[in-house]
This record gives sequence, C-alpha cells and structure tokens, in this order.
Amino acid sequence: MAAALEGRSVVVTGASSGIGAETARALARAGASLTIGARREARLRTLAEELAAAGAPIAIQPTDMRQETDIARLFAVARERFGGVDALVNNAGLGRRAPLSSSPSEPWREMLEVNVLGLCIATREAIQDMERRGVAGHIVHVSSMAGHRIPGPDSGVYAATKFAVRALTEALRVELRARQSPIRVTAVSPGHVFSEFADVFNDRPGAAAEIDRRFKILESRDVAEAIAWVLTRPPHMEVHDLLVRPTAQRN
Ligand SMILES: NC(=O)c1ccc[n+]([C@@H]2O[C@H](COP(=O)([O-])OP(=O)(O)OC[C@H]3O[C@@H](n4cnc5c(N)ncnc54)[C@H](OP(=O)(O)O)[C@@H]3O)[C@@H](O)[C@H]2O)c1
Repeated sequence: MAAALEGRSVVVTGASSGIGAETARALARAGASLTIGARREARLRTLAEELAAAGAPIAIQPTDMRQETDIARLFAVARERFGGVDALVNNAGLGRRAPLSSSPSEPWREMLEVNVLGLCIATREAIQDMERRGVAGHIVHVSSMAGHRIPGPDSGVYAATKFAVRALTEALRVELRARQSPIRVTAVSPGHVFSEFADVFNDRPGAAAEIDRRFKILESRDVAEAIAWVLTRPPHMEVHDLLVRPTAQRN
C-alpha cells in the first residue's frame, strides 16, 4: 500500500529543531517529499542527510522568516525540486520573555515578524502555488495554547502573536470558502513541548528540561504526529484547531 503522503510535496518552516524537525521526520515516514527551511543550515543539512538515507525526497533552503526574499526562495526551491507545494506547515516561531511594561521593542518586533508576518507571507506563497496548479492543498499553522489564554506574565506579546495566528486561521478559512476553494487550513495548538523553545524564551539552555522535571511535558514528536494525522485526513474533513496539552499541565 502506498504511504499516505506519497508524491505530496510539503514545505516545513522552522525545521532545524524541535517540532519542525520531528514533523519533517513524521511526514517523511508518511512518504512526503519535503522542502525544509530555517536559519541554521548545518542543522537542516544533517536532518536532510538522515531522511534522504531513509529514502525521503528532500530539499533544504536556509531561510530567515523575517526576510520576504528568503521565504520566496524557499517556495521556489519546492517548485524546482518537486513541481510545487501541496501542503505547508507554518511552524517557525519563537517566544521571548518581554514584558509589556518594560521590554525593549526588538523582541516584540522579532516575534511579530516571525510568528505573524512570516507566517502570512509563507501562506500567501503556498496558496498562490496551489491555486496555479489547481491543487486541493492544506495549510497547517503551529499555533499554541498561548493563542487561547495568557500563559502568565512576560508572555503578552508572544500570546498576542498566537492569538493572531488563531484569527488568521479562521480568516483564511473564511476567505477560502468565499471563493469555494478546496484548500484546507488547520491550527495545532500545543501546551508545553520539550524543544529549544523554552531555552530561547528564557535565554538560557536547560529551561525545557527544568519544566519537564516538574511534570512530564509533550515530546516534539507528539505534536509532529498530530500534524501528520491532520495532513492525512480525507479531503472532506477539515480540522480547525487541535489543542494538545501535556496531561499534567494545569493552565
Ligand atoms: N515548545 C513549546 O512549548 C511550544 C508550545 C506551543 C507552541 N509552540 C510553537 O511551536 C513552534 C516550533 O517551536 P519549537 O517548540 O519546536 O521550538 P524550537 O525548537 O526553538 O524551534 C523553533 C524553530 O523556529 C525557527 N525559527 C525561529 N526564528 C526563525 C527565523 N527568524 N527564521 C526562520 N526560522 C526561525 C528555528 O530555526 P532557526 O533558529 O534555525 O532559524 C527553529 O527551527 C513555534 O511556532 C512555537 O511558537 C511551541
């Protein structure tokens, strides 16, 4: 039997670590052709070697999601290598501890540019490609439980970016249905996940491990498998927002 995503070309952003890297692995297992982007090229190269050795068709493209030309190039690579993009996993994102009352504006700008603007630009590039080729494609946004409630002090702008992702998910659905497009859109909203996210947020290594010592948090692979599940549903089924918490997470 053919793998569920055999012959389907998927672009994954933020694939150099955490959820993005595990999503690339999960989608490769499902047979997808992959174009992966992030800034850390060496990480992308190592992952591509691993997946290519297992037989996955894969291309890498160093991509800074704050640079529109980089995003355009990522999609150009998907077109050159695989003829276009059938699905996009908008995963690249970050949080910074940056209180509204005292933070400099640069961390706010970075979060807004990567988590919101970069996601919008990538979405547009993917949809234009899908529509040119008449493909019933799929856009998956990696949102967050922080898009559903404020996780705590110091997370205000991060949460605002993920509330924006939630709005953009529904806005895109409304836009696509208005023109009777078959393209689907999904948000996946994880709680705490073991990745480099908490280290970046707190600006020190080991932060994710500290949370995991307090209670068992999600593995990146758990979220990746949820994304693979979403992408392998039948065409008449559109998952809107999948909330996935560690069982022991209280808020
Ligand atoms: N971990 C959690 O607890 C958690 C919970 C809910 C939602 N999320 C969301 O899950 C997504 C993935 O995060 P993660 O947990 O896997 O954390 P991670 O291990 O830190 O991965 C973040 C990814 O985003 C990429 N990225 C960051 N800034 C970028 C930029 N300017 N241009 C291109 N890529 C950029 C990073 O690549 P480079 O640094 O190589 O560019 C990396 O591949 C994010 O959207 C995050 O908001 C995480």
